[in-house]
Amino acid sequence: MQIIKYAFQQHGDQRGQLIALEEWKDIPFEIKRIYYMYNTKDGVRRGLHAHKSLKQILICVSGKCKVLLDNGSEKKIVFLETPYEGLYIDNNIWREMYDFSPDAVLLVLASDVYKEEDYIRDYDEFLDMIKRENNEKNDNML
Ligand code: TYD
Repeated sequence: MQIIKYAFQQHGDQRGQLIALEEWKDIPFEIKRIYYMYNTKDGVRRGLHAHKSLKQILICVSGKCKVLLDNGSEKKIVFLETPYEGLYIDNNIWREMYDFSPDAVLLVLASDVYKEEDYIRDYDEFLDMIKRENNEKNDNML
C-alpha cells in the first residue's frame, strides 16, 4: 500500500509560519467539508471505519497522533506530527487514529459533505467489500 503524504509549502518569515491550502492545487479534490478533533482523551481510538467514496486529507495542525491505514490486505502506521504534512486517505481504506497527544488538533479536509451512507463501520463488511471489488476487477480483466 502506497502512503501518500503531502509536504505543504510553508510561508515562513520572522513572524512565524503560515500554510495556505487550495482545492485542486494543494489538495487533490474539491474541499466540501472541514472538521477537526481536539481534546481527545487518553487511550481513545477514533475513526474505525472506511468510506465508499469519500477522500480525505488529515493534518495534525498541533501536537501529534498516529494513523493506522488498512486496505484489506496490508496495514501501515503513519505518524502525524507536523502541521506542514497532510496524509491522503483514499476511499475503501480502513482508518484508525490513536495515541493523540493532549494538545493534538487533527484537521480533516474532505471531498464531500457528511453522508452516513458513505460509511462502512463494520470491519468484516469492509473486508467483504474489498473482496467483492477485487473479484469485479478480475472479472473485468478476463
Ligand atoms: P464519528 O463518526 O464518531 O467520528 P470518528 O469516526 O472520526 O471518530 O463522529 C462523531 C460525531 O460527529 C457523530 O455524532 C457524527 C458527527 N459528525 C458530523 O455531524 N459531521 C461530520 O462531518 C463528522 C465527521 C461527524
